[in-house]
Amino acid sequence: MADLKVTLAGIPLRNPFLLASGIWGESGSSLAGAYAAGAGGVITKSIGREPRPGYPNPTVVTFDQWGFLNAMGLPNPGIESYPEEVATARKSGALVIGSVFGPDAAEFADLAGRMADLGVAGLELNLSCPHAEGLGSEVGQDPADVEEITRAVVRAVKIPVIVKLTPNTSDPAGLAEAAERAGAAAVSAINTLRALAIDVRLRRPTLAHGLGGLSGSAIKPIGVACVWQIFERVKIPVIGVGGIMTAEDALEYIMAGARAVEVGTAVAFKGIRVFGDLVRDLGRLLDELGIASVNDAVGMAHRVPA
Ligand code: DHB
Repeated sequence: MADLKVTLAGIPLRNPFLLASGIWGESGSSLAGAYAAGAGGVITKSIGREPRPGYPNPTVVTFDQWGFLNAMGLPNPGIESYPEEVATARKSGALVIGSVFGPDAAEFADLAGRMADLGVAGLELNLSCPHAEGLGSEVGQDPADVEEITRAVVRAVKIPVIVKLTPNTSDPAGLAEAAERAGAAAVSAINTLRALAIDVRLRRPTLAHGLGGLSGSAIKPIGVACVWQIFERVKIPVIGVGGIMTAEDALEYIMAGARAVEVGTAVAFKGIRVFGDLVRDLGRLLDELGIASVNDAVGMAHRVPA
């Protein structure tokens, strides 16, 4: 059986499948459940300094079988209420990566330090939520902002810092270069794409917030292209995310250059057991293709002779 173990920015993972942020609740027990279901690691909901209720409903539009448009509004309990959840997830043996968001470098650094103190294995900076005023991609679209925020966080913590990048820009690889210059241990690409649905009967946007973020199968080729370009321009590892429903989708990202992948929308459509299926199916697929390990497959599509 092919070897699925990978090391991501110094973090050993039993397999490359990470639970994406914000998909399976924020509680320690749900994170523990995702790890028990087979995920190689789990990423928390993005946590901020103060509790946020999020936007009013409706917050999600479902596209049959392939994706979501969502604008939740970064609902989270705030960092002060979060130690217990991380403790619960860690006690179960889960490998936990803490996601944080904020409006500027100072708040990111403060939050990152507090999340690191909870004993997470790494941090993921949400510089890419596509619709939150003053947060997410609004502070993550400009390479100078990405560099400043990443540098502040890297100085504040001793654990690996992963920067989750937005595709809502002309040059995602330029953002990855900025993160690398600032000392990021890895980048993840991509977050959701800014999108809108209109309810023609109500004559208004379907989501209460109006603009939202698109996820699922439709965005996979965009994510694979971003990973492909980023892989060619930085040395730090890349985590692929966006529309991974099957092991073949994951292997596309891996061959484009991803060392690990995050799974989000597929969990909502298929249930948490999708992790066990992905692990089994990726092992079988690598065996079928005669590839000995995930490591061997990373970036493989770049090396095909013309
Ligand atoms: C939310 C949506 C995102 O796509 C994201 O990256 C972060 C937060 C949200 O609406 O809560």
